[in-house]
Amino acid sequence: MTALPARLDSKERVAPPVALLAELTHRCPLGCPYCSNPLALDARADELDTSEWARVFSQAAALGVLHAHLSGGEPAARHDLALIVAHCAKAGLYTNLITSGIGLTVDRIKELADAGLDHAQLSIQDSDASSADRIAGYNGAFSRKQAVAEWIVQAGLPLTANAVIHRANILRAGAIVRLAVALGARRVEIAHTQFYGWALANRAALMPTAAQAESAIAEVEALKKTYAGIIVIDHVIPDYHARYPKACMGGWAKRGLNITPSGKALPCHAAETIPDLVFWNVRDRSIEDIWTNSPAFNAFRGEDWMREPCRSCPRKTIDYGGCRCQALALSGDAREADPVCHLSPHHNKVLKVAVLAAQGEDAGAAAFSYRRMPLREPA
Ligand code: SF4
Ligand code: FES
Repeated sequence: MTALPARLDSKERVAPPVALLAELTHRCPLGCPYCSNPLALDARADELDTSEWARVFSQAAALGVLHAHLSGGEPAARHDLALIVAHCAKAGLYTNLITSGIGLTVDRIKELADAGLDHAQLSIQDSDASSADRIAGYNGAFSRKQAVAEWIVQAGLPLTANAVIHRANILRAGAIVRLAVALGARRVEIAHTQFYGWALANRAALMPTAAQAESAIAEVEALKKTYAGIIVIDHVIPDYHARYPKACMGGWAKRGLNITPSGKALPCHAAETIPDLVFWNVRDRSIEDIWTNSPAFNAFRGEDWMREPCRSCPRKTIDYGGCRCQALALSGDAREADPVCHLSPHHNKVLKVAVLAAQGEDAGAAAFSYRRMPLREPA
């Protein structure tokens, strides 16, 4: 059970968020087994409509948000995507489309660029076509993405390639960086799998061995020097093989917020896994009210909620105790230090899970449990 702190005094100043990630829909043609969406997906009939999203972005811009990340599911499943982009641009927000590429055409990309889109992030599942299609759970995804990357670059939009690294593609982490260069990306994000939600459900199939992780990390770090000035490589190191946790979300309710397709405001994409948190909805409350007063956002703000060893640790202002959702998933209590930290009393569980998952009989060969929600789900 997670005891929630009292609501912050409304006079207490909370710095405004920098970014808002909008899950415009959970519909998606792909079925990636590490999807960041929750296991229970929002139905199309519950999605915010165009005017509701417009209100959200206007309120966010007025509060001080600078970046609008348009995500999903697959945001291109929304027929009003260009209208939403145009509204964000009018509100002065920097717009970033996070897409699988499926559903985008050369005309649609041009329409988005004309509407004011600033940047596109395209997911890449692997550098090997058949493996990429298997990971995505969609035949032909790899070749379609190559065409989409070309259209994005031709439209004059800066392109980032995103790749989630796991057991099925870790031997090609370097090849994925080279693919991103060939596609004309200016930036590539090589993110080793974070085990929440769908990735947690698929952990046996996705967990690499420690040796695989170390070798991939060394290869990608070396490529940063090789490709300096050609492509920026953002490298997210695998949690389970680290000594200290990451500052998840840059700190709970410190820098950004996520809005689900049905309007729930979350401090992070996995926050709904934490029991007893109450999430306010943008249909009922303004973004400013949610950011400042929502019990879920205030639950782990600041340091009052921290226990030892975080409470007296000098790194608490660097990593904020790590990830609350991972603390819950691995220790059973979201107020604990992230067990990835070697100072956590639960750290042995991480080591055990990492070793057992990677050495299990079915490791790497286990069938994926795909996340499925078709584009044409009836409204
Ligand atoms: Fe971070 Fe807590 Fe570990 Fe210190 S004890 S490094 S604050 S997780
Ligand atoms: Fe929720 Fe890290 S994913 S705090």
